[in-house]
Amino acid sequence: MRVLFVCLGNICRSPTAEGVLRHKLREAGLAERVWVDSAGTGDWHVGKAPDARTRVAAQRRGYDLSQQRARQVGRGDFGDFDLILAMDENNLANLRRLCPGDSTAKLDLFLRRYQLELDEVPDPYYGGEEGFEQVLDLVERACDALIVEIKGRL
Ligand code: 4NP
Repeated sequence: MRVLFVCLGNICRSPTAEGVLRHKLREAGLAERVWVDSAGTGDWHVGKAPDARTRVAAQRRGYDLSQQRARQVGRGDFGDFDLILAMDENNLANLRRLCPGDSTAKLDLFLRRYQLELDEVPDPYYGGEEGFEQVLDLVERACDALIVEIKGRL
């Protein structure tokens, strides 16, 4: 199974989701069975490591994002991944625009798919430290639900 997380810049929300899911998959003994990646709809930060605030907040909870580098989502991703999970409605709309007609990937809104109280992971980029904690809180809970789905599909 192959899962791609998508946000705007690929330096805050989707790298967090990638790091958290990788960690939870390792804990569940499923790391070898699921391919995980993240990408941005925008290209401003391509090649960069995740935002320092994102890395620090993640590190405090035991998630290592240091090996990640930002990339932009491309048409090939719709054939390479089974499940493409967008962090907000804007990202999802952009993904639907990019998506080739013969794509077999399932596109969805990450939090809505797992029925959290919010539909969107709020963009923390222009806010304070608490925004990065909120991203982690939401992503951790949604990843727990995603792991349950993955176990059911494998
Ligand atoms: P992300 O956050 O989409 O969660 O990676 C952002 C990163 C950069 C920008 C906006 C959001 N930006 O405007 O550069």
